[in-house]
Amino acid sequence: MYNKMEAIRHEVMKCTKCELSKTRIKSVPGKGNFKSDVIFVGEAPGKNEDLNGEPFIGIAGKRLSMALDEAMVSRDDIYITNIVKCRPPKNRVPTTTERSTCQEYLKQEISIIKPKIICILGNTAFNSLLGGSEIIKHRGRVVRKEEQLYFLTIHPAATIYNQDLIKVLKSDIIKLFKIITEIKDGIDIQVDFDYTP
Ligand code: URA
Ligand code: SF4
Repeated sequence: MYNKMEAIRHEVMKCTKCELSKTRIKSVPGKGNFKSDVIFVGEAPGKNEDLNGEPFIGIAGKRLSMALDEAMVSRDDIYITNIVKCRPPKNRVPTTTERSTCQEYLKQEISIIKPKIICILGNTAFNSLLGGSEIIKHRGRVVRKEEQLYFLTIHPAATIYNQDLIKVLKSDIIKLFKIITEIKDGIDIQVDFDYTP
């Protein structure tokens, strides 16, 4: 597992499969615990991430850490990644081409880690992974698709200038880890949307 994840990391670091490779400083591979029960998926690296090659280390990352602290979860226990691994110029939303070109890496991360649940952070991840939109209306919910569970919440960056939304993010993350405990205890959790035929 360790070797496979290292291989992906190195592939991402030298990847030139899409246009974003031309403007990035550093690619940003996923980071964290390969045995995590949950993978957090954001949108794309921002400025700090691009400079350092690590996901969620800027202001948005601080907000995510605040919510994790509230749930008493350490960043060392979880795995964090993004839909695209390189920063789009001026932090624009990654295009559908960029997302689909990069998706193989995320697929591999998921298939190696085999998380019990994937935590979708915001609209870009929601749209890319489940075809959804308006995450604010769907946040806090659990989705099952092709045997994989997903938990929906807002993007941590949305909480930066909005005190109400930090409360929302914190309560969602607490709910997420309650659900993970239930899954581990073999309790049947409530699935709000089931795409499974
Ligand atoms: N925003 C994201 O979506 N991902 C990061 O890694 C940082 C900010
Ligand atoms: Fe490669 Fe993804 Fe970076 Fe594009 S965004 S260059 S596909 S790692």
